[in-house]
Amino acid sequence: MPPSDTVRFASIGTGVRGCELLKATLQVPGVQCVGVCDLYDSRHIAAQEAVDNPSVPATRDYRSILDRKDVDAVIIATMDHQHRHIFEDACAAGKDVYCEKPMSHTVDDGFAMVEAAHKANRVVQIGSQRVSSILYAKAKGIYDSGKLGEVTSINAYWDRNSPSGAWVYPIPPDASEKTIDWNTFLGNAPKRAFDPVRFFRWRCYTDYGEGLAGDLFVHLISGIHFITGTNTVAQRAQSSGGLFHFKDGREFPDLIETVYDYPNFRVSLRCNLNNEGGEFIAFYGTKGTLLIKDSTLTFTPQDTRPSAEGYSIFGWPKELREQYLKQWKEEHPKPAALASQLDEEGETYANPPGYSDTVDHQANFFSAVRSRKPVTENEIFGNHAAIGCHLSNFAYFNKSAAVWDPAAKKIVKG
Ligand SMILES: NC(=O)c1ccc[n+]([C@@H]2O[C@H](COP(=O)([O-])OP(=O)(O)OC[C@H]3O[C@@H](n4cnc5c(N)ncnc54)[C@H](O)[C@@H]3O)[C@@H](O)[C@H]2O)c1
Repeated sequence: MPPSDTVRFASIGTGVRGCELLKATLQVPGVQCVGVCDLYDSRHIAAQEAVDNPSVPATRDYRSILDRKDVDAVIIATMDHQHRHIFEDACAAGKDVYCEKPMSHTVDDGFAMVEAAHKANRVVQIGSQRVSSILYAKAKGIYDSGKLGEVTSINAYWDRNSPSGAWVYPIPPDASEKTIDWNTFLGNAPKRAFDPVRFFRWRCYTDYGEGLAGDLFVHLISGIHFITGTNTVAQRAQSSGGLFHFKDGREFPDLIETVYDYPNFRVSLRCNLNNEGGEFIAFYGTKGTLLIKDSTLTFTPQDTRPSAEGYSIFGWPKELREQYLKQWKEEHPKPAALASQLDEEGETYANPPGYSDTVDHQANFFSAVRSRKPVTENEIFGNHAAIGCHLSNFAYFNKSAAVWDPAAKKIVKG
């Protein structure tokens, strides 16, 4: 990559994911981190360590980053309730934006962000990295080939069984009102006294996150939308679940199950924090089944060749049964070679060891910043996937079906 093509970016929000993203950028050619920003001072050091550059400028004030002319793009990896205003300001300042998933904290936030991106004509990538994965590209190829036949049922889960999986992250010993800009963290959320639990375990609280739906469903929904070529919002969702184990004052359940209605199929999702089940997506079609379990994809064809009825005719008298079978054989002369062989072979693929879809997702973004060509997961796609999370939570908390009203751009009770 010639130096003139180097994309200079800054990262806003350099916590767990922000640092992961910064490390991933080291594997993307032609990009340079020129600034980092976070509300918690120790995360300035963590970010400098992540990019292996102790002198990269660090600040608490993201506006000072947006004012810089040498910044082409920004990564936003803050808590979800902070995405909207930083995103809007970044677009208005002429920066391209990689914004972590879920794109929005509320339905209104998502549409405001889409408008901001379009108004400023910015390249936007939302951070559900599975859509840039080589495994998902393979799955999409199989889905598009028609090998699955008609897919009417899609089922996915992401289950974990550890305090870390349930976001019970340790509080760093230096966390205090001196080292953390607590009021800026709260932003538009209700004012309250300094509480490091809320800062570090923000996913547990409705003011800042969306619980399991925003954390994990969004990956599953994005993957399903990508593979099936869906770029819309589910029409309706129904949820069940509960808080069974992690009764630590959190506001979200530790088990949630949601069934979504799409025009051509139904999607059933589950996240359970009380069993280690890993990550799984399955597409059930009339001609075959496609499964992705963690980093392995398997396609299994189903035997759909015509066959004589072998069940209900046993309630017929022998004479009628034999007559039926004789006639069936005459009408279906099957070549012997095909009798023991399916038309389609099964297929299995796995990611190579060390493969990172995060690196590919970032590379996709930065090359779009250069080329101005479309990204895999733009603001429209990201907004639709995030609304799927909001539908799930709406149904759970209201104990009613959640219906998407596309004209009003609102979720209503069904
Ligand atoms: N794509 C993935 O696989 C993936 C994985 C984890 C997290 N995420 C997403 O990444 C985002 C961050 O998650 P995390 O786990 O890193 O959270 P985190 O709490 O570890 O880090 C968030 C950081 O944002 C900073 N921040 C908040 N408001 C800010 C502001 N106005 N200016 C500057 N900094 C600000 C905080 O100080 C904090 O350090 C979330 O949206 C989350 O959903 C995505």
